[in-house]
Amino acid sequence: MVRSWFNSPKDRQNEPKDDSPPEASFWPPLKAEPPVAAPDTAPPPVMAPLKGPATPMATDPATETVTGDTTAIATASRMSALPDPAPKTDVVQDTRTAPAAPRPPAPANSPGAAPSDGISVPAPDQPAQRLTDDGVAAGLDPWLPDTGNGVVGHTMYDLPSSEDGSITVLLPRDHIAATPSQALVRIASGDDRTYLGIVVAGPFAEPDGLRADASLIVTTSVRSQPFQPQYHGRVQVELLGEEINRVIQAPRFRPLPGSAVSVLDDEETAHVLQVSGDIRLGRAVGHHDVPVGLPSRSKNILPRHLGIVGTTGGGKSTTVAGLLAEGQRAGLAIVLLDVEGEYTHVHEPTTDPTMVRLLAQDGRQPEGIPDTHLYRLVGRETTNEHHPNSHEFSLRFSDLSPYTVAEILELSEAQQERYFQAYELAKSLAADNRIRGLSRAVDTAELDDFEEGCPGVTLAVMRSLIGAFLSAADKGEPAINEPSIADASGVILGRVREAKPSHPVSWKALMGRLGRLHRLRVFDNSRGPAGPLDLDALLAPGRVNIFDLSDIDGTDLRNIVIADLLRGVQAAQERRYAAYESHGDPEGPPRTLVIIEEAHEFLARNRVASMPVLFSQVERIAKRGRKRWLGLAFVTQLPQHLAPQVSALINNWVIHKVADPAAISDLRQSVSGIDDSLWRTVRGLAPGQAVIATGQMTRPVLTAIHPAAAQLRMVD
Ligand SMILES: Nc1ncnc2c1ncn2[C@@H]1O[C@H](COP(=O)(O)OP(=O)(O)O)[C@@H](O)[C@H]1O
Ligand SMILES: [Mg+2]
Repeated sequence: MVRSWFNSPKDRQNEPKDDSPPEASFWPPLKAEPPVAAPDTAPPPVMAPLKGPATPMATDPATETVTGDTTAIATASRMSALPDPAPKTDVVQDTRTAPAAPRPPAPANSPGAAPSDGISVPAPDQPAQRLTDDGVAAGLDPWLPDTGNGVVGHTMYDLPSSEDGSITVLLPRDHIAATPSQALVRIASGDDRTYLGIVVAGPFAEPDGLRADASLIVTTSVRSQPFQPQYHGRVQVELLGEEINRVIQAPRFRPLPGSAVSVLDDEETAHVLQVSGDIRLGRAVGHHDVPVGLPSRSKNILPRHLGIVGTTGGGKSTTVAGLLAEGQRAGLAIVLLDVEGEYTHVHEPTTDPTMVRLLAQDGRQPEGIPDTHLYRLVGRETTNEHHPNSHEFSLRFSDLSPYTVAEILELSEAQQERYFQAYELAKSLAADNRIRGLSRAVDTAELDDFEEGCPGVTLAVMRSLIGAFLSAADKGEPAINEPSIADASGVILGRVREAKPSHPVSWKALMGRLGRLHRLRVFDNSRGPAGPLDLDALLAPGRVNIFDLSDIDGTDLRNIVIADLLRGVQAAQERRYAAYESHGDPEGPPRTLVIIEEAHEFLARNRVASMPVLFSQVERIAKRGRKRWLGLAFVTQLPQHLAPQVSALINNWVIHKVADPAAISDLRQSVSGIDDSLWRTVRGLAPGQAVIATGQMTRPVLTAIHPAAAQLRMVD
């Protein structure tokens, strides 16, 4: 029978005392063969000495020195540090508890070290200690627990399969728990160089002295007579670099074999990873006291845009809620395009029992976000009719670039040509100050048609002009009924006739499309409370503006609203930034964050071709935003649907669970620095966990996002 000789320490205590010798040892070479007499000369050390032991070792002066192969020695020297599982039948010395009769290790050729021919095998009763002593005699530095310097393991020799930038570390079983995935480690190399690294694979548990698939282990497991040899841990460490004067630099060498490895504490981890920031999003997983945040005043973070991605239920909205609260505290002006009406209650404390419980664990209270304002488009509903700061707004048609209009209405080439014919006429009226309501003539030469519309040119003006062209093309009697241009009707009708319009069908179709826009009843509502937005007021520091777009049916209108808002916010931010540049501000530059929920709907890959103007507008805003502190955050569960032109603008990422392999491989194109093991982790992240990768961090960090203190509306 093979004895199951290792159970838990507790089991062992409870075992009846058994004084009989073990029937079989798992240590194959250690059979009861008499030690072979050793020749007189000392063997050459089996390994080059690394360095002296950190503390004196207790050794049994009486033990004979035996050499095995180097693996056995190395393994045994670690084994000696582990709790001794075997019922002690003899004098095997436990180096942890041995009364200290400190004695320096015997040099290989000292009288204390018995000579060996390298083929001797030990007596069965003292294998571990003998091999330890032998290792010491051969110049090995035995791993010693409790040396007080936090050493948890040592680097292994390289193999032909070893790769640059990556090194294997072996650890005694007791220290496996100290090196979870993503733990940061410092490697004190024998050549006095120091390296920093991060655990990217493992910790694995490997049996001492045997391969995990050795037939001995396999056979006994198969026969339900498992016997567990001692085991040790192995982790793969990716080198972050060599540490020179507390700065991490690209390594030119590798840590030598046998280098001591210690785990960084939380403070150092935070310093090395560079994960702190005033917009606190969560904590590093595995480092409870390392806060992870985005520095709101770093030009490399918010102005270089943010992607918040992950499957539904992954925790994106919770992350956004944290971003709102923390961004507000940091003094950002925030505009949130809330496509589903999820955030219309964030001024209230959360009532979600899970969140309340999780907050309590952190010693926090549910808490609403102050100074939030809720906006809805005129005539549309909101998911919160009772918001204390509710505003209705309308759009100004004259803010839309004629190209955007053509794109959104999906005008054919013929229709587009006619639209621009009418638009040129409208512009000339504005240039001549012939539109009522304009305070002065418009300098139309200064207008950039790709970016903006022409002041005074309302939807009503355009419809009236197109109606006149249609009439003329249809051989009818054109007339101008729109009051704001009625005074100019003589000039207009003259110009229309002059143009000799043809193809009434095209004009009619164009008229129909503009009728669609008109029926939305969202443009040019200058009367009543639902006027155009006061964007300068919106961008006050610390103000959170929620745009509830949930009742806007039809992607067209939603996209018009989003495009218009983006353009308006950008213009306002440029004004604020220009004012800051000329007058300065002790608070620093004004910073604005625009968060776009369900961004894949607005900026879908399959629409890039059909909406080039909209895309180039977003691109321009994103690029100009970098210098002017306007950051965009794109939130989506379908990052693979996001146009690559948009992903390319994003330099910082919060990646919640993404299970879809296609989405992962797509993200891998855009997000750098995430190693394979972390990408595998992304597939199985729990709700509220995310990998955060920013331009500032040393490397991406797995983060437990804080629970939301503000109320989120459940949407399915
Ligand atoms: N940071 C978090 N901490 C704890 N639980 C969370 C966290 N984030 C999300 N959850 C859980 O997951 C659910 C879905 O989160 P949500 O933010 O709505 O995801 P998404 O917006 O990606 O669909 C929440 O209702 C909550 O139960
Ligand atoms: Mg959500």
